[in-house]
Amino acid sequence: MIEFDGVLNKIKEEGYFRKRTALKSAQDTIVTINAKKYINFASNNYLNLANNQKLKKIFKKSISEYGVGSGSSPLVSGYSDEHLMLESELAKYTKFQSSIVTNSGYLSNVGLINAISERNMIIFQDKMNHNSIIEGSRLSNSHLIRFKHKDYDDLANKIKKYHSYNKVIYVDAVFSMTGELSQLDELSAIAKENKALLIVDDAHGFGVIKKDETHFPSILSLYERENISVDAYIGTFGKAAGTFGSFIAANKNITQLIIQKSKPYIYSTSLPAALVKTTRESLKIIKQDKKLHAKLYRNIKYFRSLCKCHGVNIGQSETPIQTITIGDPKKVVFLQKKALEAGIFLQAIRYPTVPRNRDLLRISITAGQTTKHIEKLLKFLKRI
Ligand SMILES: Cc1ncc(COP(=O)(O)O)c(C=O)c1O
Repeated sequence: MIEFDGVLNKIKEEGYFRKRTALKSAQDTIVTINAKKYINFASNNYLNLANNQKLKKIFKKSISEYGVGSGSSPLVSGYSDEHLMLESELAKYTKFQSSIVTNSGYLSNVGLINAISERNMIIFQDKMNHNSIIEGSRLSNSHLIRFKHKDYDDLANKIKKYHSYNKVIYVDAVFSMTGELSQLDELSAIAKENKALLIVDDAHGFGVIKKDETHFPSILSLYERENISVDAYIGTFGKAAGTFGSFIAANKNITQLIIQKSKPYIYSTSLPAALVKTTRESLKIIKQDKKLHAKLYRNIKYFRSLCKCHGVNIGQSETPIQTITIGDPKKVVFLQKKALEAGIFLQAIRYPTVPRNRDLLRISITAGQTTKHIEKLLKFLKRI
């Protein structure tokens, strides 16, 4: 009989043991844990839509219409009119020929790589990419080469050595643990020069990054589309959209390939139609409600200005993901506990989610927080 005590004890000794926190309330600005209330700085609910009244009403109504489950995988009978309409709306929002709704961002990455992968393919990845992209490559029959974080000279030097291979550059658009942005113009130029595909996972930018009112918020909105060439784009619904699920937008050949070949897509029960309908409404809110974004970005600005004023050493990010690097796994967990004592819920992020000795406090700014909430957070951060 295999015993796992040794493995678990080693994780504990090194300070990397993980625990889950059970919420007793909805995902919102204030959450309840063990009968106590906390200000929530630990979610990806950037636009505070997860507990939105209008969306809850639509979800309830859609459940009356469609029931609670989809009953099957999409190629059997789990694909509904709602899936179809959401896919067509997403293609319009992101300006791609087509899109495919999937069960989660994790499965989008694993499933897309599964569909396109072949032995003669190399997938070049930023070292700080999300685990689903790394794991997706590892599970595939393609080769994986990683380049230094946001170091495009390193990428260019590596990629030019592999003339005879099919090549893919695959990056996080917004790095989930630092909030930094990838430079799609530079990546696109390298992709073009080396005849590589460029795939962008915008899990944290979809619905969030906004240049002006004319585009749906996403990292793509920062660029003139004729100046960049992105071959596939991943967005998620479990973060800014406040619901659950994900999508891949691409040309029709790629989305067809997913339907024909992607095992995680073909062999898994699809999202319930009622949830898909709710996501459609959530995206309409994101497109139309100008106040939500204004509030989110006002909060980010306010938080950063307070940090600057009080000498709190935060990262460079201008996105809702704000970080304070602590560099010690035990210390970062200790600080998280201290934050809870001060009524603040934030996350301690440790290896392997970030590299060793880069353990950090991840602070998530949302549109639901008030200036008072942010000031309370600052009071705590000043102490550490
Ligand atoms: C860049 C990135 N891609 C994919 C995912 C996974 O998305 P989901 O939570 O929908 O599985 C995450 C989750 O945090 C992420 O940060």
